[in-house]
Amino acid sequence: MEIIVKRDYEEISKCAAEHIAALIKKKPNCVIGFATGGTPIGTYRELIRMHKEGLDFSNVITFNLDEYLGLGLDLSKPYSQDQSYHRFMYEELFNHINIKKENVHIPDGLTKNPEEFCKSYEDAIKEAGGIDLQILGIGGDGHWAFNEPGSSLESRTRIEELNEQTLNDNYEAFYKKAGFTRDDMPHYAITMGVGTILETKSILMLAYGSKKAEIVAKALRGPVTNQITASAIQLYKGKATVILDEDAASMLDETQSSESVS
Ligand code: PGA
Repeated sequence: MEIIVKRDYEEISKCAAEHIAALIKKKPNCVIGFATGGTPIGTYRELIRMHKEGLDFSNVITFNLDEYLGLGLDLSKPYSQDQSYHRFMYEELFNHINIKKENVHIPDGLTKNPEEFCKSYEDAIKEAGGIDLQILGIGGDGHWAFNEPGSSLESRTRIEELNEQTLNDNYEAFYKKAGFTRDDMPHYAITMGVGTILETKSILMLAYGSKKAEIVAKALRGPVTNQITASAIQLYKGKATVILDEDAASMLDETQSSESVS
């Protein structure tokens, strides 16, 4: 695992975008797993800037990690009132780059048959040849995607119930601002499993801010446990790169964080 510590959010965003752009240049038809949340927004802004300077997404294939059950791109609702991860991805990235719609895969939270959908999502990832690079954040409770504490580390794409901490975190970060009450939030989501993530070829995990320092240290250095599903990074067989700002890295001790400091 390579751990890169950068000064601040802007620096981690630039570093992450460069990492993603390097893959796209090397393999224009690469398969990228995208993530939502506050953390990757800066990275997506950088990718948009790079696209304006010529970075070509026309052959890139994408798979997103998760989506709230009951939400999708619901055109019957005003766009701004839609808290789906579909809206997030189009607004924060896809609308601004030359990605082909048919190459975008985001779990369908509006599916009538979630179980069948989850199976087909796994099949689609396999048919695309697997995910070359998966972008990940880490939840306040240590989750990867919506794999809440207690999820099997072998889990596959499935329906997961969100716990209180995740509901509170996401309410504060997204729902409250948009004028929703806590009760408006979906309590279930479709998420790629930890086992699905562990099968990707490389991962890029990002975290910033002192709020994440303790959980980052536990995930990267503590025991591997299904109570902190991001700790599965220690089992990862592919190439794992972790980019942290100084605050998020502050509870990794000196010898640990000096693996690769730039
Ligand atoms: P955040 O969420 O980027 O909004 O902190 C991370 C996550 O839940 O994986």
